[in-house]
Amino acid sequence: MKLDVNILSGLRREYGEAFYLLDSVQFKKNFLELKYEFSKIYSDFNIAYSYKTNYIPQICRIVNELGGYAEVVSEMETELAFKIGVEPQKIIWNGPIKNPQVLQWFLERGGTVNIDSIDEYKIIKEIVSKHSNHIYNIGIRCNFDVNDGVLSRFGIDIDSEEFQEVLAFTQNAANVKLINLQCHFAKRQIDYWPARVKGMLELIDRIGVIPERIDLGGGLFGKMEDSLKKQFRTNIPEYKDYAKVVATMFEKKFKNLNNRPELMLEPGSALIGDCMKFVGTIKTIKSIRGKTIVSVLGSQKNISMSNINPPIQIFAMGNTQHKFENVDFVGFTCIESDILYRNYTGNLAIGDMMVISNCGSYSLVMKPPFILPNFPVLDVSEGDVEVIKNGETFKDIFNTFNF
Ligand SMILES: Cc1ncc(COP(=O)(O)O)c(C=O)c1O
Repeated sequence: MKLDVNILSGLRREYGEAFYLLDSVQFKKNFLELKYEFSKIYSDFNIAYSYKTNYIPQICRIVNELGGYAEVVSEMETELAFKIGVEPQKIIWNGPIKNPQVLQWFLERGGTVNIDSIDEYKIIKEIVSKHSNHIYNIGIRCNFDVNDGVLSRFGIDIDSEEFQEVLAFTQNAANVKLINLQCHFAKRQIDYWPARVKGMLELIDRIGVIPERIDLGGGLFGKMEDSLKKQFRTNIPEYKDYAKVVATMFEKKFKNLNNRPELMLEPGSALIGDCMKFVGTIKTIKSIRGKTIVSVLGSQKNISMSNINPPIQIFAMGNTQHKFENVDFVGFTCIESDILYRNYTGNLAIGDMMVISNCGSYSLVMKPPFILPNFPVLDVSEGDVEVIKNGETFKDIFNTFNF
């Protein structure tokens, strides 16, 4: 839906001076486009949506309805996937620390667990030994160097004895199926992707095992406005560019195989990034030693982007505007660095609404209960307003304290 002053003033009247807007229609489009671009080249492809990036239940439900998997990293996210009705076979549990009791419960229902460490392996070995006639779906998070300058702390070094030990266990225990080999690297530049694929394909050659799924994790750029693209020092690839590199390498490797492994990605940001806007109201305008400071109801903590100027639009909402230069938009908190946008030049007035785009990833889920509870989330993408999340209240924040 295209925003205008009428829509925004209606929403402000009903839901308050700050809120998020979710675009679930765009999310569906993103999911289907990513799926299409990869499947076109390598047909055995699927997506496990990274819940942590933005776990709005409606979004997770869409993934499930479109046939995608849930990629979870905690008991809380696992519970969410179950609550939404995701089949355990479609849940992949990653992450460095997992509660042993929940792990057992999850594995017994057929979920996949990617082992992250030798210590986790010991817990899983114990669980697996309890029911010899149950088949457990186990994966391994693989750690290797993709020359991105990061020494990742996740997974098991594929050149270590520990990896050999865990692999041997998945091969020798009669009731364990090595369903998944997984990796994830955070850097989104396409340059690092061939090394990921190569690392995984060389690994399966070396160990002589092709698991049901080869999961390359997330770490793809999503869609963004040109004003945002320009602020990255690197080229921003499209879905089809990643597909051309990754899916082509898979097709080449497995084209003559009957039982081809499923290629899996775990995108978060690439799917949800452009599906949320944050809307706040201008509350004060002041000048400090020549610098104009505009405070808005909202915070950098709401959008979670820092050291970058996000795509911004100002909507004139009634008061007489004046032209300002090099304005910093600052948030409601008392942190000096709570700046949403630096050096804006344009017309502004108190009461105007500021709309910031591209804040769907790691925003809502990373907003602390610092100073104010969080604002509501509304979905207007299909015309009517759907309240996705109510604005938080005093009670939501203080519920767990004993007064
Ligand atoms: C294991 C794993 N998979 C997927 C993701 C999602 O990454 P992104 O939001 O970059 O797509 C992450 C993010 O940290 C991750 O750790």
